[in-house]
Amino acid sequence: MSELAATLYDKVHAAAQAVRERTDFVPQVGLILGSGLGAFAETLDRPVMIDYGDIPYFPRSHIVGHKGRLVLGSKRGACCVAMQGRVHMYEGHSAQTVAFPARVLVALGAKVVIVTNAAGGLNPSWQPGTLMLIRDHLDMLRDHALRGPNDDRLGPRFPDMTTAYAPELRALVKDVAASEGIALQEGVYVAMPGPTYETPAEVRMLQTLGADATGMSTVPEVVVARHMGARVIGISCITNQAAGITGNALSHDEVTETATRVRATFERLLDGILGALSAKGELS
Ligand code: HPA
Repeated sequence: MSELAATLYDKVHAAAQAVRERTDFVPQVGLILGSGLGAFAETLDRPVMIDYGDIPYFPRSHIVGHKGRLVLGSKRGACCVAMQGRVHMYEGHSAQTVAFPARVLVALGAKVVIVTNAAGGLNPSWQPGTLMLIRDHLDMLRDHALRGPNDDRLGPRFPDMTTAYAPELRALVKDVAASEGIALQEGVYVAMPGPTYETPAEVRMLQTLGADATGMSTVPEVVVARHMGARVIGISCITNQAAGITGNALSHDEVTETATRVRATFERLLDGILGALSAKGELS
């Protein structure tokens, strides 16, 4: 395939093919693990690890705490492919580039994509460490993952977003959280461009708009997963209260420290979700 002629479709399939050349494992679930949450990938059974650098067209992340590799392996009866690390638009990538790996997860076989992130809490009553199931999102990014010509082989020109976060899977996640005794909030995630955290005025704007958690990721990946027909579960780890709520300055260290602190609970929730997806036949 000549570089010049390669379409997005070609690139997605070339990347998936490179993964298949290293393993014949066919994943049913794609996991995109956010800041400080990537260690879950190492808990997969008999993991096969592939550096992003070994996959053609895969963008690389340079953020501390983001590893940059795919991990394939099963967990609780679910065949998984996990992304340990992702790139963000604030690094200078287009939304299409940011979303490219999510397309590869679906091309590899993922029927369900679980997207996780670290986010700032807009709801003043939510303490750092709160887990939030994403019910819906607001897209404040200044680029769109589907901008440009549409390739109908990947998905439709105008995808419906009424049920971007599958209602039946949200119900499943809530059941798992309840049976595991894990407190889980539900709300709207807003994607902001970053890399600055919001100003207190922006935080008030986002609260007024109906958002509950703010972050700098997730939406491009959700958009392309839906474009390609996968169902999506989104989970935010509220790592800090958004700017101006407490008056304290925000820092990336606080974000990763909180994510690390809730790691065990977060992993128990993911484990339970994978078990329930597989037991309830949601992955075929
Ligand atoms: N704002 C935006 N992104 C974030 C935050 C925040 O407060 N915390 C973690 N990611």
